[in-house]
Amino acid sequence: MSDFNPRRVILFAAAITSSWTALLVIDCLPTQAFAQYSKKTIVAHRGASEYAPEHTLEAYRLAIEQGADYVEQDLQITKDGVLVCLHDLTLERTTNIEEVFPGRYRKVSHAGVSEKHWFVYNFTLEELKRLDAGSWFHKRFSGVRIPTWQEAIQEIRGKAGLFPEIKTPEIYGLHGFDMERLVMEELQRHGLDQPGADPETPVVIQSFSVDSLQKMAVDMKVILPLVMLLGERNRQWVSPAGFQKVKEFAAGIGLEKSILRGNPVIVEWARNAGLSITPYTFRSSRVGKGFWNVRAEMAYYLYTLDVDALMTNNPDQFPDP
Ligand code: G3P
Ligand code: CA
Repeated sequence: MSDFNPRRVILFAAAITSSWTALLVIDCLPTQAFAQYSKKTIVAHRGASEYAPEHTLEAYRLAIEQGADYVEQDLQITKDGVLVCLHDLTLERTTNIEEVFPGRYRKVSHAGVSEKHWFVYNFTLEELKRLDAGSWFHKRFSGVRIPTWQEAIQEIRGKAGLFPEIKTPEIYGLHGFDMERLVMEELQRHGLDQPGADPETPVVIQSFSVDSLQKMAVDMKVILPLVMLLGERNRQWVSPAGFQKVKEFAAGIGLEKSILRGNPVIVEWARNAGLSITPYTFRSSRVGKGFWNVRAEMAYYLYTLDVDALMTNNPDQFPDP
């Protein structure tokens, strides 16, 4: 026996003890030991973000009403070190920052063109709370605010799980922030830093950053499930050997759906490595080619390709088996 194989060890234990308990453990192993999901799972991407402005408490509440198992938060950090829920590193797409702080931009050269950007890390929480994060989406959401992660946790806790994404930790590191520690400290304050701490509020942490995931798994000994996000930018990890490496520090992968569609054997690679698989992102405003609607598209991934969970802007369209 060259490799350590937990299944073989348990089989051996059962043989020598004839214990019913050990046999029960064997029965549970494939789902209990290798996946954080016990059923096909809905992760509400930025909340119910097809119907309400992304990353607002309104979008999170609606996601819960629509039956989301988890609500996703993309995390950023303010100048004064507070975790807030926002997808972009900058504020101009989803707030009225240009009106409220017209001179507070930074010029960034992008492909030879100078652009103005308002970065989250240049504004305090008090300043961010002056911004309208709803009008860009629809005037009926005028005046809604960017939530802190603490506010999001308080809103969601007891009603759904949390699915935070550690966004660009390397950039926040350059500004003196230890993003992974801020995230874990917030979870500790809420008593949510251990698996099963609150069965109504499971927590899964995701990131595109390998360094970040390895730091949490190895240095910080985080035992919450970690999900490595994979897309075109880091596609080199999508292989049987790559997944075996991912398994050393993560419990699952979150995969850009187009990569999976062209290569459904990836589900088998993930299963063989003991990783859960959660493709993203399913939205009614951009349905994949060849599907009638987002419900049909999600059904294909869930029940034909047999993924474990999906990230969707439309929790209400999640299909039954
Ligand atoms: O977290 C998975 C998916 O949300 C990654 O894409 O850009 O929407 O955060 P993005
Ligand atoms: Ca995300």
